[in-house]
Amino acid sequence: MAVRIKNNVYSVGKVDWELRHFHGEELSTHHGSTYNSYLIKEGKTVLIDSVWQPFAAEFMRELPKEVAVQKIDAIVVNHAEIDHSGAMCELLEQIPSVPIYCTPNGVKSLKGHFHKDWNFHPVRTGDSLDIGNGKKLVFFEATMMHWPDTMFTYLPGDNILFSNDAFGQHLATDKVWADLIDPCILEDELIKYYANILAPWSKNIDAKIKELKALNWPIEMICTSHGACWRGDLLKVVDKYAAFANEYRENRITIVYDTIWGGTRVMADAIARGIREADPEVTVSVMNMARSDKNDVATEIFRSKAFLVGSPSHNKCVLSSIALLLEELRGLAFKGKKAAAFGCYGWSGEAQKRLTELLRGGGYEIVDEGITNIWEPDETAVGRCVEYGRRFAAQV
Ligand code: FEO
Repeated sequence: MAVRIKNNVYSVGKVDWELRHFHGEELSTHHGSTYNSYLIKEGKTVLIDSVWQPFAAEFMRELPKEVAVQKIDAIVVNHAEIDHSGAMCELLEQIPSVPIYCTPNGVKSLKGHFHKDWNFHPVRTGDSLDIGNGKKLVFFEATMMHWPDTMFTYLPGDNILFSNDAFGQHLATDKVWADLIDPCILEDELIKYYANILAPWSKNIDAKIKELKALNWPIEMICTSHGACWRGDLLKVVDKYAAFANEYRENRITIVYDTIWGGTRVMADAIARGIREADPEVTVSVMNMARSDKNDVATEIFRSKAFLVGSPSHNKCVLSSIALLLEELRGLAFKGKKAAAFGCYGWSGEAQKRLTELLRGGGYEIVDEGITNIWEPDETAVGRCVEYGRRFAAQV
């Protein structure tokens, strides 16, 4: 069902209440998601983005209730990833010569996905499309927010910025506006989205936010492609992104571990105790990696000023859940995080060195040599871990 956004602008996308994993199985989506598509009915009829492929047939059934597909004069593809371009083939079957506005990288991505030579009109920042009734759309290359092809589309007069992935959240809602959503869930999903999807491109994102702000476009609404849209004090969410892109950290320390017989867990709890004793203000999260969602763990680390990773030595390596986390953290490339390693061992204790190497290789600043314990921690070992936690807190 279409929802009027403002004047002749309608939201015509899909709410996916059931989604629990996205990007294959890579990303958890505890609250579902939406694939927002927008229809503008001015002198010209323009569709901005569509929906994910599994919902293409439903989209093509619903869209004619708002507009005859043959009446669409142009399609704007802000980003070619198939959660937004998934209905393109079905649309183009009905309107094969419709002009498609996207970045030059968008042309490559669309051709790469669909292998069709459609009527592409590549656009750059500042280019515009006259949509009649004295209105136009203006394009802004938002490179790496999320892919090289990503762009924003701006509708002056109505002062709406269509931002695609940027400022979005994986959050199923039919309420449309962020101010109508439970703020705790909204904030959690906003930061999880940034940490797990956009963080690797923070340097570009910082530059793009500065570039966007310098344009001084009056913006009253930001219409995202996932989750809720923003209205009211938009600077709040834009500044949040600026903060996320600049070595974001809260007064938090995260301890992530895996354990075989519980020794490394005892160490984790004792280190946490030491940190709390040294700094009662700091929020400490202790997470068993094997029993936690990796995207939630990554989000906790993104929010933290420092983190510790623990694993016992196992077959001369680290436990598999921890190896997976460290590969993930290498890719996410969070900046400005301090880290150290810990864990139990019984024979030769290779995990400690391996953990430290992997953390350093991932670009994280190693605080110190960390802490190990041979065999199960006794009272003395627990005391050493508490003391280590105190020292760690003082160094971060
Ligand atoms: Fe929502 Fe990068 O696609």
